Amino acid sequence: MADFHHLKVKHIKSLTPSSVAITFEIPGALIQTFDFIPGQYITIKKEIKGKELRRAYSISSSPKKDSITIGVKKVDKGGFSDYANTKLAVGDILEVMPPEGRFVFSPNPNPKNIIAFAAGSGITPIMSIARSVLASNPVNKFVLVFGNKSTKETMFYTDLVNLELDHPNRFFIYFTNSQTQESDSLFGRIDISTVNYALKNKHKDTDFDAYYLCGPEAMINLVSETLQENDIPKEKIHFELFTTTEILDELPEKADGKTEVTIVLDDEEFSLSMNKNELVLDAVLKQNIDAPYSCQGGVCSSCIARITEGKVEMVKNRILTDGEIAEGLVLTCQSHPITPTLKVDYDNV
Ligand code: FES
Repeated sequence: MADFHHLKVKHIKSLTPSSVAITFEIPGALIQTFDFIPGQYITIKKEIKGKELRRAYSISSSPKKDSITIGVKKVDKGGFSDYANTKLAVGDILEVMPPEGRFVFSPNPNPKNIIAFAAGSGITPIMSIARSVLASNPVNKFVLVFGNKSTKETMFYTDLVNLELDHPNRFFIYFTNSQTQESDSLFGRIDISTVNYALKNKHKDTDFDAYYLCGPEAMINLVSETLQENDIPKEKIHFELFTTTEILDELPEKADGKTEVTIVLDDEEFSLSMNKNELVLDAVLKQNIDAPYSCQGGVCSSCIARITEGKVEMVKNRILTDGEIAEGLVLTCQSHPITPTLKVDYDNV
């Protein structure tokens, strides 16, 4: 069951003209529930103009505190990010699902050098990871290449500069702005030359243990390909999409007819009949079954379930590995059935 809790907004800080950092107070009884690994996100549920919206936001703060901070950039007029930037006030209560997500950094007792490439609001989970890396060991290094339109539009700019001042020779930032030429920044989007500048020029003597990429799909693909051309093994490259360019409504033409579906959720079984050209999550939500989900766009991983009978095809998958798919795991927001019967188990993942 999607497990939401009421959290009070403790603090709101303007980060740029179109983004805010929102801090939630975590009451003592929920501290364990809201414990998280750096890189994870929370999902907020809010009814706006009579419609229930769910949005996933990465956590920017460090774990083990009685508060959680997220960064919210205004992207949708009339949607939750608009509301958060213009109407939300300190003391308001929001419904929030505990942290989840697979784009994580687990602190390790050995020194670890990390390099991250972030664009726009993709900085949010990287903030939490950077803070954790720097706190986990006194000698490891963190290099950040951060792309924005301008310094004015750069989320967490002051926090990042202060983090660099607090960790000389351990935290290195390269800001790159695509719309303004500024003295302390590179000019242009993150591209092959930016990646090579950080890797082969500025930090050519550093062995990096992990590579974290967060931002739009085009940036992630470009950086990932460039890293692999530099012989970086794929297993060391971790990424989180913040937007995707793939179109969701490209269901294959053969997807017609009906499928009888059994849903297993919280030890209960539900039956429903759905069209093969529908997405499993959509069909489940239509029946008011309280299945977990957040982005509905194939980028967050909240809606993972296991297929224990029958088959589905996924429209898009940038999250599950081949091994996980072979085990039967699917993103239900991207899956449509291709067999007459289907059993979808949300409990066994
Ligand atoms: S709801 Fe986010 S991946 Fe399915």
